Amino acid sequence: MAEKPWEGRFTEKTDRCVEAFTSSIRTDSRLYHHDIEGSKAHCRMLAKQMIITEEESSLMVNGLGEIKMEIEDGRFQYDDCLEDIHMHIETRLTEKIGDVAKKLHTARSRNDQVALDVRMYLRDETKSIITYLLELRGVIVSMAKTHQGVVLAGYTHLQRAQPVLLSHHLLAYYEMFTRDQERLQDALKRINVMPLGSAALAGTTYPIDRDYVASLLGFPEISRNSMDAVSDRDFMIEFLSIASISMMHLSRFSEELILWSSAEFSFIEISDAFTTGSSIMPQKKNPDIPELVRGKTGRVFGDFFAVLTMMKSLPLAYNRDMQEDKPPLFDAIDTLKACLDIYIRMLPAIKVNKDRMEKSTTTGFINATDMADYLAGKGMPFREAHSVTGKAVSYALSKKKELHDLTIDEIKSFSELISEDIFEFLKTDQVINRRISKGGTASESVRNQITVAEKRIKQDRKAY
Ligand code: ARG
Repeated sequence: MAEKPWEGRFTEKTDRCVEAFTSSIRTDSRLYHHDIEGSKAHCRMLAKQMIITEEESSLMVNGLGEIKMEIEDGRFQYDDCLEDIHMHIETRLTEKIGDVAKKLHTARSRNDQVALDVRMYLRDETKSIITYLLELRGVIVSMAKTHQGVVLAGYTHLQRAQPVLLSHHLLAYYEMFTRDQERLQDALKRINVMPLGSAALAGTTYPIDRDYVASLLGFPEISRNSMDAVSDRDFMIEFLSIASISMMHLSRFSEELILWSSAEFSFIEISDAFTTGSSIMPQKKNPDIPELVRGKTGRVFGDFFAVLTMMKSLPLAYNRDMQEDKPPLFDAIDTLKACLDIYIRMLPAIKVNKDRMEKSTTTGFINATDMADYLAGKGMPFREAHSVTGKAVSYALSKKKELHDLTIDEIKSFSELISEDIFEFLKTDQVINRRISKGGTASESVRNQITVAEKRIKQDRKAY
């Protein structure tokens, strides 16, 4: 059994069940790369500050490099008795290079070490999620471009409200994912702060150079308060909140894709490659991907809440509770990435049923607002126009007709301001193209949204 780095003060061996209970190696082994990079930078700094010799430092740096290879080749042995990835690597280094390895932990504690590892890891993952979001935004914009001119019913309360362009509808999601990306870019500033050198909680007596470690590891700044640095996880909670928001956006999109692919809507068909069948009902083709994305959203909300709740009563500074941050963090990262990735692949495999979408704009009095606008345009106050149109709707309902199916005499009976031109006015493309207010659904406005989005994506691609 390997010797524990903290064994000195203990006279009895740790109970096996305690080792199993307290160990986090099964989860935090994925931090190995960042742990090793952090330790190498720490070694170099210790040598530069003459806290250890150059020779000792290079022995340790080389040994750490070899350990990285052992882990990557699957030769590394894990053991619950060594608790976590930090102790595994340090113990292995001692086995490899002898007692000199015991200097690695000079001026350092696992408390600042784990804070460093998690920040480095999350920094990389945040950047990777940003590139997924960027790609997803690109896919959405190209769909919006492909389907320019396709109209469908826009809904409020899931009741047909006013017709919109499909591109407009899709670009709403582009906006949501753009904000998610911006939120991550902003959060990155707070993730990208170097905590090492805070030691256990109070700083260290050694003449370390924290700025040097930060420059070696690519951190633009170092933490200003050691107690905060070892015990804060708000950078992680912020990330999890953003991941939750992004999953919520994916989940809303999923809900629409599920509805739209039902026989009742038949607005879209998700290709066979991205759907699955039923083991009992031969006719079924199920939208499992959006369903699973919608389902996984709950998991990510849970991950967010797990860390938020775990932190809420912790006194300063580090508490072991905080080891529980990693399973939810890793789960949220994996889940969000998997969902973004599958969306990027699935969206181009969606067939749009243009005719069905268009048909949805011909019933349900979807042009009633426009009849009111028509009357208001002829001088009737809008409130009155609303009420007159309401009466026309009620009449048409009793005749099982739409407003545009009424005869000219029927429709004229509601106001003498109405003339023949109302039927042209109520046509779907007219209804849509009159919505020229900035951000509205008129073709021109949507074309403009596409141009702006494409430009923005190009800029973002250069930056990332
Ligand atoms: N495995 C621990 C964690 O993830 C590392 C820090 C342990 N610190 C300690 N004082 N026991 O939080």
